[in-house]
Amino acid sequence: MRSESAPAIRLEDYQPPAYRIDTVHLTIRLHPSETEIVSVVSVTPAEGTATGTPFVLDGDDLTLRGLALNGETLEEDAYSVTPERLELFSPPAEPFELSVTTTINPDANTQLMGLYRSSGTYCTQCEAEGFRRITYFLDRPDVLAVYTTRIEASRTDCPILLANGNPVEAGDIDNSDRHFCVWHDPHPKPAYLFALVAGDLARVQDSFETMSGALVELNIFVEHGNEAMCAWAMDSLKRSMRWDEETFGLEYDLEVFNIVAVSDFNMGAMENKGLNIFNDKYVLADPETATDQDYANIEAVIAHEYFHNWTGNRITCRDWFQLCLKEGLTVFRDQEFTSDMRSRPVKRIADVRLLKSHQFPEDAGPLAHPVRPRAYHEINNFYTATVYEKGAEVVRMLKTVLGAADFRKGLDLYFERHDGDATTIEAFLACFEDATETDLSQFARWYEQAGTPVISVKTRHDPERQTFTVDLAQEIPPVPGQKTSKPALIPLRFGLVGADGNDMIAARVDGIEIAGDVMLMEKARQKVTFSGVASKPVLSLLRGFSAPVRLDQTQSEDDLKLLAARDSDPFNRWQAVQTLAMQELLRLTQRARSNETLDPSHSVVEVFGRVLQDAELDPALKALALTLPSEADIAQEVGKDVDPDAIHAARQRLRTEIAVRHRAALSAALNDFMPSGAYSPDAQTAGKRALSNRALHYYAVSGADDASEIVWERFDGADNMTDRIGCLTLLTHDEMPDRDKALDAYRVRHEDNSLAMDKWFMVQATAPGPDTLEHVQSLKSGSLFEESNPNRVRALLQSFATGNPTQFARIDGAGFEFIVESVLEIDKRNPQVASRLLTSFRSWRALESVRCALAESALLKISSCEELSRDSRDIIDRTLQ
Ligand code: TRP
Ligand code: ZN
Repeated sequence: MRSESAPAIRLEDYQPPAYRIDTVHLTIRLHPSETEIVSVVSVTPAEGTATGTPFVLDGDDLTLRGLALNGETLEEDAYSVTPERLELFSPPAEPFELSVTTTINPDANTQLMGLYRSSGTYCTQCEAEGFRRITYFLDRPDVLAVYTTRIEASRTDCPILLANGNPVEAGDIDNSDRHFCVWHDPHPKPAYLFALVAGDLARVQDSFETMSGALVELNIFVEHGNEAMCAWAMDSLKRSMRWDEETFGLEYDLEVFNIVAVSDFNMGAMENKGLNIFNDKYVLADPETATDQDYANIEAVIAHEYFHNWTGNRITCRDWFQLCLKEGLTVFRDQEFTSDMRSRPVKRIADVRLLKSHQFPEDAGPLAHPVRPRAYHEINNFYTATVYEKGAEVVRMLKTVLGAADFRKGLDLYFERHDGDATTIEAFLACFEDATETDLSQFARWYEQAGTPVISVKTRHDPERQTFTVDLAQEIPPVPGQKTSKPALIPLRFGLVGADGNDMIAARVDGIEIAGDVMLMEKARQKVTFSGVASKPVLSLLRGFSAPVRLDQTQSEDDLKLLAARDSDPFNRWQAVQTLAMQELLRLTQRARSNETLDPSHSVVEVFGRVLQDAELDPALKALALTLPSEADIAQEVGKDVDPDAIHAARQRLRTEIAVRHRAALSAALNDFMPSGAYSPDAQTAGKRALSNRALHYYAVSGADDASEIVWERFDGADNMTDRIGCLTLLTHDEMPDRDKALDAYRVRHEDNSLAMDKWFMVQATAPGPDTLEHVQSLKSGSLFEESNPNRVRALLQSFATGNPTQFARIDGAGFEFIVESVLEIDKRNPQVASRLLTSFRSWRALESVRCALAESALLKISSCEELSRDSRDIIDRTLQ
């Protein structure tokens, strides 16, 4: 008998809570295996609640030790209790105080939800439903309370005691080793934002003066010895705080802002009010162990969590269906921050690459769901690329549709109208409608409909009439469980590019509404006519990726080359190069499948030469343009009957051809763009480094005599992690002579740094060689692998399953079997990490028939398992449906 899935939670069933909790007084007596929590809550029946309506609290794996109502111990027949639920049968009609005592075992908490220990430090993770693993509570985001938290612990083990809000009192307990600290958070908040940290941590301190002159104490807490690695995170925090004031007028609202870095964490970071808790990979950085990408990620995640203070905490979600209300908006805000700190086009390309490689396949497979889902079995499985990344795209489109000024008006109204609320997407959109007198009902479909719209484009130029006609059609391909779809409002930024590369201006446009350089497509089909267009233009559509759609548009190689060389929109220049490469890769893949010789197109290879030689192109953009679509991207484009080996062969062949043909220019670039002087993570320098490493990536397979020597020397002499890991990847993936020597040298150098060692695991897990699976298996059973550390699991197993298509989908099925066994093992310990790993099967139906059958039988093994977590049960059921 296999575990049955519980009924789904549905948006349409939402009911406001029958009782309010106004204040919470927590006393938490920390102990490694038996922590006691006394929670005293003041409860008021909501308006309209009938007298005697049962008061039902959520729990998860709890042991009740005491229960008192208005100070009196409750009779046993007045309530019922299980580890999951506490019910008061007939509570008073008047406001009352309930005192609940529970005990929990932090050391036994391997799920990393609720209160657990990471390297000896007590910490919490309460989003989405972790608070109920600490005490019985109304654990839902629309119950907002003011928290006072008293923490008691051994002073020796836990000199640092932190909770949300401001510190109000601290002292010793009797004459023991124990001490206490009391924190008060004046801002009402839902339980998912509660946090506590206690341990022996080092403090890096700074301060920030807000725009109204309040002084805020800033602290970052890390393990002793890591203090020097906090400078970048602290700098990023101060820049985030200033930026939110300058850009949106949003100010911080407590006396202290604390950040804690822990090494065992399920996700990236958590925005708990005044006490953000981070996966240490998004805090710690120095040139020796962090890449340029790590620096950029830290800046973005610090900003993201900080920005949640307004979009998430001050204004939170009514229910978990509204998750995108805080996540989509906050991702949009952190993207804008990065664009302002660095290069806007480079950031846009990076975000679109992420969207296309993660969100598009999700939207095209069995796990597709709307940005605002209508039903879920396990909310942890909805922290997805769709909610986050597509959610941010929807906010970005809102800005495009309304224009920057009106967008700002709507957002200002949102902060004014909803501060202190737990609210919905409807209420959010209503602010923009009311502030700008716009009807957004059609736009709202972006939140409701799953699947990536496909826009078909056909163009025609009539030289006699001097018209240019564009036929547009939008359609969402079938999505499981979604019957029909309706046309959405799609903003299409565009230009008509003339032969000289300049944009042409049409005398008139008919058939569509135009706002500036944006067409607003609102119907399923639209015929757009531009008049006064004497010569044939090249249509540059979806500039800046103005909507999360796929284009079905046939453009000639010459047209794409013109856009690649001359489009005034840097995003579409990059896109044109990628499209040319993709078309060629699809052709080569087809030939590889039918065992024909691979004959890369001379003219496509030349396009890469021109990109390389373009003196005006920014190095970071150039590095991106020179990056071929990944094997997973190609597989997505192939769409069905996917053969990962053919894709790999095609991509390797094109890469080698580019390398061989442009060897001299690559040799020059890898030296010319290598930054000199002390390491700096700034965007300009990082862009040069990216280009130099990209050139080296090709040069390594160019057949040059000195290639392996150059790669080894750059690896050996590297003064920063970007260069070192770049070279190690080449040495490993291209099986260069010094591979083993380099892997050993790296291990010896970084053995004590877990984040640097994650990279060592990841590099090996993603090597395409035919024995990688066996190698990954031996790494997994080796002493350096730690199953309890999510970062390590992701570095070895997740990156194998998602970043090594040929080995994961090996024709003997062993790759699938290996991941299935790993999922089953990890599921017992940490369901969130296991179910995330399981999503790596989401595109299994697109594989060719042999591999598809192997994937199915591997998945059925999971499905037939008796004791599966709710997280993995939900993913497996949907993956197989
Ligand atoms: N709210 C967090 C963020 O986006 C996400 C998060 C952190 C989370 N930890 C989690 C979600 C654990 C679910 C479970 O910044
Ligand atoms: Zn977030």
